[in-house]
Amino acid sequence: MESFLKQWPRVDRAALIASLQTLGPESRPVLKNLSRAEIYRDIHGQGGLFFVADMADELGLKPGMRVLDLACGGGTTAVFLAKRYGVQVWAVDKNEMDEGKLAQRAQDAGVGGLVVPVKAEAHALPFAMEFFDAVFCLNSYFYFGTDDLYLPYLLKFVKMGAKICVGSPCYRDELPSNPRPELLVEFPDCLAVHSPAWWRRHFEKIGIVLVLKSVCHPQSRIFWEDWLRQWLETRDPADMSPGEREGLLAFLQLLAADADGFVSHLLLVAEKSAPPAPSPSQYYSA
Ligand SMILES: C[S@@+](CC[C@H](N)C(=O)[O-])C[C@H]1O[C@@H](n2cnc3c(N)ncnc32)[C@H](O)[C@@H]1O
Repeated sequence: MESFLKQWPRVDRAALIASLQTLGPESRPVLKNLSRAEIYRDIHGQGGLFFVADMADELGLKPGMRVLDLACGGGTTAVFLAKRYGVQVWAVDKNEMDEGKLAQRAQDAGVGGLVVPVKAEAHALPFAMEFFDAVFCLNSYFYFGTDDLYLPYLLKFVKMGAKICVGSPCYRDELPSNPRPELLVEFPDCLAVHSPAWWRRHFEKIGIVLVLKSVCHPQSRIFWEDWLRQWLETRDPADMSPGEREGLLAFLQLLAADADGFVSHLLLVAEKSAPPAPSPSQYYSA
């Protein structure tokens, strides 16, 4: 990677692509027959539908289950979950949600009756208590979920025993006080990504969930590399806007600086084990 960075911006694109690890649809049976473009389309993070399939497995999705796709962006994952697992998905996002567009996408995919687009803020969810059988949250939870009061709020909407699965970029350990600047991509948002151990403690301390798993995804490095590979395969850096080129360079520098898997992906699975206690925050906050 270092040698390619020295060539930047006149990088040998084919050689750089060849240097990056890759994943194929055959690695997850549920992705059979999907193209790489479909696996990555409109997903804002590394791993694409590879990561989504692993999260779906963790949730044990079964036809008919009610799933909250929290901060779903444009709703790609909601359509995928509905189509591949036969679940009903309420797709919630406050910024990127175009309800009409997502409804049409779901319709075109043959799951119009299974996907409900909802433009809403994560702290103002318009659902009945104990409505959901599962919560799926990809590349988003750190934007709002580091608030100690958020998880008890969210859990009001899920049934006892329901699972929540959070997947997102993370650091293997907490950032040191003096981190290498290459590790701070998307600063200051990256300060909220945290380590699996931090997230475990954050979830466990409220005493109403059982954390079944909070780990660095074992294929994290491949997720990063395959995602960059897909980026480079579909776009020539020469044709990118300066901002995109800068973003690509930042991620290449990040991976080059990370020799030992410090930059990773969180895979957290927790199960609601007790009702949230009534508390002042339920009235004064969310
Ligand atoms: C990086 S994108 C990930 C989108 C999608 N889950 C994916 O992986 O492609 C983060 C998403 O979180 C949403 N988001 C952030 N804060 C939110 C909040 N407080 N309420 C609802 N959505 C939020 C943003 O609108 C954005 O669509």
